[in-house]
Amino acid sequence: MEKRDLLMIPGPVTVSEDVLEKMACQMFNHRGPRYAELLTEVSEGIAWSLGTKGEVHVVTGSGTAGLEFAQINCIHPGDRVLSLSNGVFGERLADMAKIFGKSIRVFEKPYGRGILAGDVKAELENGKYDVVTCVFNESSTAVRNPIKEIAKEVKKSGALLIVDNVSGLGMDYHMDEWGVDITITATQKALGVPPGLSFAAFSERAREKAKKAPTRSYYFDYGTYVKYREKGQPPFTPCISAMVATGHVLGKIRKTGLDAFNSLHSRRAEAVRKASREIGLPLFAQEGFRSDTLTAIEHPKSEEIREKMKTTHRVLLGGGQKHLAGKIFRIGNMGDISREDFERVFLALGDALRGAGENPNTENAIKAFGVL
Ligand SMILES: Cc1ncc(COP(=O)(O)O)c(C=O)c1O
Repeated sequence: MEKRDLLMIPGPVTVSEDVLEKMACQMFNHRGPRYAELLTEVSEGIAWSLGTKGEVHVVTGSGTAGLEFAQINCIHPGDRVLSLSNGVFGERLADMAKIFGKSIRVFEKPYGRGILAGDVKAELENGKYDVVTCVFNESSTAVRNPIKEIAKEVKKSGALLIVDNVSGLGMDYHMDEWGVDITITATQKALGVPPGLSFAAFSERAREKAKKAPTRSYYFDYGTYVKYREKGQPPFTPCISAMVATGHVLGKIRKTGLDAFNSLHSRRAEAVRKASREIGLPLFAQEGFRSDTLTAIEHPKSEEIREKMKTTHRVLLGGGQKHLAGKIFRIGNMGDISREDFERVFLALGDALRGAGENPNTENAIKAFGVL
């Protein structure tokens, strides 16, 4: 029996020792110069990682808090919203938009399929919208939506584009170049920091709109964030340890470069996809739209397989959500994981498959990780 759990779910992820050590720091005044410096460092680092010169706000709370901060300030009471959805998190964006906007049209693609720019073009020709919402990396299905192409269509229509990039950091993403107005991300995915903070990057257009937002929330009021930001402060007591850790991690990524950070995830994902093929299991996401930060694999007894991997090998994978429960499992590619960890996943998977009466080629699957 292995000595430690191997957490391979698509977030929260395994945090490296150096990050854990940084987080064990003593607390300091969030209204003093040290925090002001950290706030600048983290905001600039997040902006850099998202490819934007826009304004980044740090919101204490998980990714959903950042999404709510974006929507409450940029979907106004009279707004018509087009919510693009092909999974659980696209549905969440739509459910949220229904609270804040006037009329919401939900464009749905089946789980596992990518949303095409052509789909969006047709939708935008058939209706007039003020805001469009979309998930970049749909973690429930491991689908990467082509935001670059989608953003082109949205821009032509004049609507504002809000993108959930909670789990897509670690893949190529260029907010300004693509024309995205708001991007939201969080700590507990590819950054390899514990959960607790989310980040919302606003383009100039989004800022102008947010300034005119009616006040509908105390905690998420854009005007309050801007006012405090000018003083180098957070509006409320922040999660200081997660901020320290994020500053540290962004410093490390800056040293090696964004390309190296992204290529780490694409190499891991390519190896997992190859290993899945070798072990004889199909991938769930449509080819050409596959995520690099996680992989969804089909198996009709996925819950039995996950349970066996957990109890016998202490390997933890993500399950299917909503109607995909019992049909897929998901392997996260983010955080402090090594080649040996991936090998351990596939050894455990091979064993579980054998337990289910199958005859997997585990040895060939393991070879896929030689590239890591
Ligand atoms: C794509 C996506 N959006 C939103 C969320 C919600 O984030 P949180 O659970 O941090 O609120 C997640 C979490 O897994 C996610 O993967």
